[in-house]
Amino acid sequence: MENKIENIGTAKVSVGSDNYELPIYKGSMGAPGIDVRSLYKQSGHFTFDPGYTSTCSTESQITYIDGGKGQLLYRGYPIEQLAEKSTFLEVAYLLINGDLPDKSQFQKFKRSITHHTMLHDQVESFFHGFRRDAHPMAMLCGTVGALSGFYHDDAHTTEDQARNIAMHRLIAKMPTLAARVYKYSIGQPHVYPQNHLSYSENFLNMCFSVPAEQYKVSPTIARAMDKIFILHADHEQNASTSTVRLAGSSGANPYACIAAGVACLWGPSHGGANEACLNMLREIGTVDRIPEFIARAKDKSDPFRLMGFGHRVYKNFDPRSRVMQKVAHEVLEELDLSDPILDVAKELEKIALEDEYFIAKKLYPNVDFYSGIVLNALGFPTSMFTVLFALARTVGWISQWNEMLEDPSQRIGRPRQIYTGPTERDYVEINKR
Ligand code: SDX
Repeated sequence: MENKIENIGTAKVSVGSDNYELPIYKGSMGAPGIDVRSLYKQSGHFTFDPGYTSTCSTESQITYIDGGKGQLLYRGYPIEQLAEKSTFLEVAYLLINGDLPDKSQFQKFKRSITHHTMLHDQVESFFHGFRRDAHPMAMLCGTVGALSGFYHDDAHTTEDQARNIAMHRLIAKMPTLAARVYKYSIGQPHVYPQNHLSYSENFLNMCFSVPAEQYKVSPTIARAMDKIFILHADHEQNASTSTVRLAGSSGANPYACIAAGVACLWGPSHGGANEACLNMLREIGTVDRIPEFIARAKDKSDPFRLMGFGHRVYKNFDPRSRVMQKVAHEVLEELDLSDPILDVAKELEKIALEDEYFIAKKLYPNVDFYSGIVLNALGFPTSMFTVLFALARTVGWISQWNEMLEDPSQRIGRPRQIYTGPTERDYVEINKR
């Protein structure tokens, strides 16, 4: 990665009677940033930004979000176009390499991924250490990290060739792991990957086929699955991607870094919101109960939040939620299903978008609002929703991890703090306390 940020001037910071000058950098799109790397050395002051609401942790050339416009670009391509015209595997190539592949590049990439989809047979033994009712994210987190015990040729070096094979292994094996997690949790035998199937067909086959009968993957359903993976592939420096980058900045192996990303994504404020959102829609149950929940979401004394609403960056529609709403209709039509929860979701969206609280706080449906409905219709239990999110986001995590390792300005991440604990004091013997 070549650093491309451009110095466009200086910011003047005054602390008391002292004045400091800090460079201002801008990229190709989006807000410029004030470079505060020398601030502490110059002024003895840190910046203070809990939750990093105004902090850029890195330069990146992978994904761009304009929260005001509701715009999401993967390497410059709008998410709406990629969801409509591309495939998840082609998007994986794009995120990692920076450009869409030509035919021969894609064939080579696809062949490599296809031939890494199987897991080492001993991975199976990890599953038998879990209870059948273990949360699928617990099993995914454990088994992804364990992969570093199987691949010594790429886990303990960050050389180019090793990084490439590790990235291909992770893209290829996440669906196999995710499907095995699902099969283990429902007591069915795991299904091996089939090399003649496409990426999403393969995943659906590993999840839903059984030895007792043939399973035919519906092209419409496979296409919907692929679109869902595309929508979840990357999202600039979100919490789990920042976790992967921070773990990778110490030189930790890629499997451990991805396991850290899985752990962070699990939280209900982040990737766990799709599961929480469907559970919330089920709790609401009928359209007439929506006002009660809207009131709770607005009540400061009530910790309840409208899951699937709001976003740190989007202060307009999350462009992914619009595509996801369309996918929801396609899937329900293909499966000839009518889900009353979809009616509740559409009415909830309509009411919330007209409510002054949500308008004032710019709270719009995010990617998780409709994804639960689609995944439920596809036959996945809610406990698997975040596993599917992690499967797709693995492509974004490894692209960002790889970019970080190629960034000449990269250093180990080590934030500071404002300490408000006790000042120095002497130890007191227990009989004198
Ligand atoms: C993802 O970062 C990413 O890119 C994430 C993601 C990705 O692809 O990686 O997009 C995926 O994580 C999507 C978000 C999924 N989470 C949810 O749907 C959970 C519900 N939403 C929230 O908890 C919240 O909106 C966050 C966590 C998403 C954003 O939190 P912020 O940016 O810290 O905003 P905030 O909590 O400070 O909220 C601002 C105000 C607050 O009110 P005040 O304190 O200013 O009075 O809006 C209120 C909040 O109380 N608010 C909500 C709300 N979300 C925010 N009120 C009711 N319901 C909500 N959902």
